[in-house]
Amino acid sequence: MCGIVGYIGKREKREFLLDGLKELEYRGYDSAGIAVLHQNEINYFKASGKLDNLVEKTKDFRSIGFGLGIAHTRWATHGKPTEINAHPHWGEFSFVIHNGIIENYMDIKKDLQSEGVVFLSQTDSEVIVHLFEKFVNLGFEPETAFEKTIASLKGAYAILLISKVASQKIFFAKNAVPLIIGKNEEDELFFGSSDAPLIGFASEVIYLEDGTYGWANEKEINLYKDSKQIELSFKLLNSSKIYAQKDGYRFFMEKEIYEQSAVTSETLMGRIKDEKVYLEEVENLDFSKIDEIKICACGTSYHAALTSSYLFERISKIRCSVEIASEFRYKKPLLTQKTLFLVISQSGETADTLEALKMAKRAGLKTLSICNVDNSSIVRISDATILTRAGIEKGVASTKAFATQVLSLWLLALHVGSEKIDENEYASEIKAMRSIPEVLRVDEKIHEKIHRLSKRYLHGHGFFFIGRDIFFPLALEGALKLKEISYLHAEGYPAGEMKHGPIALADSKLFTIALMPQTMLYEKTKSNVEELSARDATILAISPKEFELADDFIKTAPHEHPMSEFFEMMVITQLLALEISIRLGNDVDMPRNLAKSVTVE
Ligand code: G6P
Repeated sequence: MCGIVGYIGKREKREFLLDGLKELEYRGYDSAGIAVLHQNEINYFKASGKLDNLVEKTKDFRSIGFGLGIAHTRWATHGKPTEINAHPHWGEFSFVIHNGIIENYMDIKKDLQSEGVVFLSQTDSEVIVHLFEKFVNLGFEPETAFEKTIASLKGAYAILLISKVASQKIFFAKNAVPLIIGKNEEDELFFGSSDAPLIGFASEVIYLEDGTYGWANEKEINLYKDSKQIELSFKLLNSSKIYAQKDGYRFFMEKEIYEQSAVTSETLMGRIKDEKVYLEEVENLDFSKIDEIKICACGTSYHAALTSSYLFERISKIRCSVEIASEFRYKKPLLTQKTLFLVISQSGETADTLEALKMAKRAGLKTLSICNVDNSSIVRISDATILTRAGIEKGVASTKAFATQVLSLWLLALHVGSEKIDENEYASEIKAMRSIPEVLRVDEKIHEKIHRLSKRYLHGHGFFFIGRDIFFPLALEGALKLKEISYLHAEGYPAGEMKHGPIALADSKLFTIALMPQTMLYEKTKSNVEELSARDATILAISPKEFELADDFIKTAPHEHPMSEFFEMMVITQLLALEISIRLGNDVDMPRNLAKSVTVE
């Protein structure tokens, strides 16, 4: 995910900006750049690839004395990860950096092009700087020109802009993407997309609210919303770097669970327009020529695949089969030309998944990947890729990557099924999809309850997570999370299948985590849970409906769409695994015997 750093003051700017970008490196990026305004001169540098390339390019550059600096790491969304698409983008006398997506950039770009503006990059961000300069050229004061620019933008943004027409100021704006301003006693001002680059420099910070914008110089910060000036509310900044990287959470996994709301907004960004799914990544795939989707993946990605198989059959009306990549490789699979071969991988490097993809390519199949890492091996060889945009995931046990995989697959299912389901159904899918970032906002009270409940689940002879339909793969994933980080034995099972064997294990020391959504086969699941309760199994029910036989109960919201229930229950199972493991004293982020990316077979 993109990162932003900015600075106003007398400090040497190159070093501060590059160090700041280093602090944001963990978020993932594919190119970087800086621009420094000093004595009415703007110096800028951009480089694709790692930050070291930018460090090398700027090695002879220093900027001492009062000046302004902006810096950016880019995670490509519109346009390839090339140097020209890296930020900052410039016009005649101004430079801009931007995180997020400008949804109406095409309209703005066309208007500007018809007025003779030449664009250098393929990015949505470049429109910002040209629009600003257009208003300045029309005679508006720089502040008004910036205000008008921001008012013209639709979408998500954190923006910093510098210009020779206001050489003491940084202009900034924030909507749906984080932006922070910090200050210290020495009249220095700092900007960041998270507080990590500001630690050790700023003593107080403002976390900007959505829809705010303004300008700042050495002496003052002017902040506006809806053309009205608003008060600045500073908070003290913690000075520990590790604390900052984890944003105050105990473990990266916990932080990543809390990030799911924000990253799923990124997954959706620009992909729903005028109430229709818009997936430009798969525009060249002709789905009318495809009569089956075959998915290959490992681990958590395999569970995302299984979830999507229900969606592909139900929404896209297309046959879908799912295989574990290591099994697929050696079964001499029968591959037919009308099959779309889909691989899912957080890292894009998993050896078995990569090999399965190569086999499909050799057989001449069309291939598509769902991946979180651009330029990874899997992305490079797939015919098309949908990037999940989860940002770097540090916890070995995958959480936000899974959430964004499932959401991307749901987008794809709806894209493929757009002509096959009726209008009302389509509209209700879109409505539910739009609500997912909100559904994923962690309810602190539920987290607290899970923390309290977790102490009762530290022993026993095993866990069964049970559910039906899409809640079966969610049960598999819930069980996987728990075993990965708690080292307790846990299994996911289809609720209706328990009576065909596993129920023999039922006694009071068998813990059953029952996923009981109200929108999906509630009565059927309830009967299955009753069968277990009758055999004295300990039941933790997760449901919007009170369930009197539950030993413990976590009440979820009464959503109308199964996928909303799915995502809410997903967070609960993640938090349950987290809290149990913390109580057991385990290293949640680096569980024993596991690796984040498995590049051997
Ligand atoms: C490893 C990780 C799992 C992950 C699996 C597949 O086993 O520990 O968390 O789900 O690999 O990884 P991928 O990057 O292909 O999604």
